[in-house]
Amino acid sequence: MIICVCRRISDREIARHARAGMGFDDIQFELGVATQCGKCEGCARDVVAQCNGACPSANISLGADLAQGQAWNTRSV
Ligand code: FES
Repeated sequence: MIICVCRRISDREIARHARAGMGFDDIQFELGVATQCGKCEGCARDVVAQCNGACPSANISLGADLAQGQAWNTRSV
């Protein structure tokens, strides 16, 4: 799933970097996620937080908001 629409960055790509040991700031610098409109920052941080450790991307759950029918970018940060 695309997390950052502006930079076209997927959750898998963020998760891959997080599992490699990178923190959000490093991933942001490397990929450019959340560097334009910034609306994806909360979701991107959630992905990084869930992947700290050895969490496979299949376990990423951004579903809480989506299951409630809220758009990905409506969360307050
Ligand atoms: S959606 Fe990521 S910076 Fe705009």
